[in-house]
Amino acid sequence: MPKYVLGIDVGTSGTKTILVDEERRVVASKTIEYPMETPRPGWTQQDPALWWDATIKTIRIVLERSGAKPEELVGVGFSGQMHGMVALDEKGEVVRPSILWNDQRTQSQCDEMTQACGGLDGLVSLTNNRMLTGYTGGKILWMKENEPENFARTRAVICPKDYIRYKLTGVIATDVADASGTGLFNVKERTWSDEAIEKVGLPRSLFQKAYESYETAGHVTAEAAALTGLPEGLPVTAGGGDAVIQTTGTGLVRQGILGVVIGTSGVVAMGLDGFKENPRGELQVFCNNAKHLWHAMGVTLAAGGSYRWFRDEMCKDMMKQAQEQGVDVYDLMSAEAATVQPGCGGLLFLPYLSGERCPYPDPAARGVFFGLGLEHGHAAMNRAVMEGVTFSLKQVAERIFAMDPDMKPEKIILSGGGAKSEVWRQMAADIFGLPVVTIAGSGEGGAYGAALVAGVGLGMWKDLVEAAGDPTEETRNLPEPETQKVYEKAYAVYDKLYPSLKACFDLDEALR
Ligand code: XUL
Repeated sequence: MPKYVLGIDVGTSGTKTILVDEERRVVASKTIEYPMETPRPGWTQQDPALWWDATIKTIRIVLERSGAKPEELVGVGFSGQMHGMVALDEKGEVVRPSILWNDQRTQSQCDEMTQACGGLDGLVSLTNNRMLTGYTGGKILWMKENEPENFARTRAVICPKDYIRYKLTGVIATDVADASGTGLFNVKERTWSDEAIEKVGLPRSLFQKAYESYETAGHVTAEAAALTGLPEGLPVTAGGGDAVIQTTGTGLVRQGILGVVIGTSGVVAMGLDGFKENPRGELQVFCNNAKHLWHAMGVTLAAGGSYRWFRDEMCKDMMKQAQEQGVDVYDLMSAEAATVQPGCGGLLFLPYLSGERCPYPDPAARGVFFGLGLEHGHAAMNRAVMEGVTFSLKQVAERIFAMDPDMKPEKIILSGGGAKSEVWRQMAADIFGLPVVTIAGSGEGGAYGAALVAGVGLGMWKDLVEAAGDPTEETRNLPEPETQKVYEKAYAVYDKLYPSLKACFDLDEALR
């Protein structure tokens, strides 16, 4: 009898459900998209009902398309957009729309919480992370200060995929990766930091049991079975935050292999084979998909997002042309970028279109074209956006490599929309000075990692290494020494720009 495991990714732009067999093949996949509300500049929210509706539909479609029988299903695994605050009342009803990971409203709450823990070093000593505006912790305090009636009704706070697990199983819980991303978790001990929670003045009772990602956290209820077509009693594992759980699906199973995802945000990540300190909280250091593993990462908030902005605002003609020719506009944009010499003749781009998170946690930062001359045109600006995003990702990578002096960076596994571009893949190899590979299956993102990690917990595979298998390389780009030299010079300038501009971003904020 064949065996299948479901992976569900409750993402920001849509929910994806896939069904994976014992050979790690994706036998069916369905995504349903939904919008994000931006009630004010810098604020982002979503109604959890959208996720649940998309989950029900995608599960139904995947079961139907695959023809899998109920007895062939082993269980369900989750991935989800991280840090979103889902507040539940005593009846388990949603109190207000979920405030999302890319929301920037909480700077003053993050500052307050940091002070309450004795400053940045005090907070990092408790949680191994700084309190980023994206994290769940600041959102809860924001609700307490700005919506006291909602806060008073709240009995539990969980993350987006936890809400969907709760709808499937009736169990309110979270996992160690998403708990790490609240900013109130003791990442070293893999348990809540009671001390941090007390110091910031939040009730301990809001925070739920944090399972390891592969552990079973509940079983499909009769009601959820009727809605989704899943068998009642099917085990549902805890799953993890997308940025963490997707690493298993992209072959990041050993320290030294760096994962770079160029999606809306750009995530640079590495699995750590033991707990490591995160001085000044520059990176995000979270619990990983197995008990002996940790995870270091840094996020460039607008990576593919910067390139999409360039497409939407600056490439209207190309978009029309692509539509007429029935081709992908990103292919046309890549072809245009390829006409420009690496380094863009000194034109640099800072990708802070949504503020920034790493290495500069600064919601006030903004995008910049620097070094513009009369000789530069559309094509140079196009390429400069790609290069600027990649320089930002390199800054994050340098900080990860610095965590362990014995670390030998081997290669980069590139995924996300940006990895589809040959120009971007070669650029990454030249800028990082490392081989860049893409692997089969990485396009499935968090849902694939979710299925693999759940499969380990449910006995389909022995461990994460066996689950990840030996991923097939689809492409491999090697650094070209001459181009590398050009990029080293450009990077040296890039690296100085944010520190030089910081004060101007702060002044500029008052104009917005
Ligand atoms: C990770 C993060 C993003 C979201 C995207 O810290 O904020 O990668 O998880 O869904």
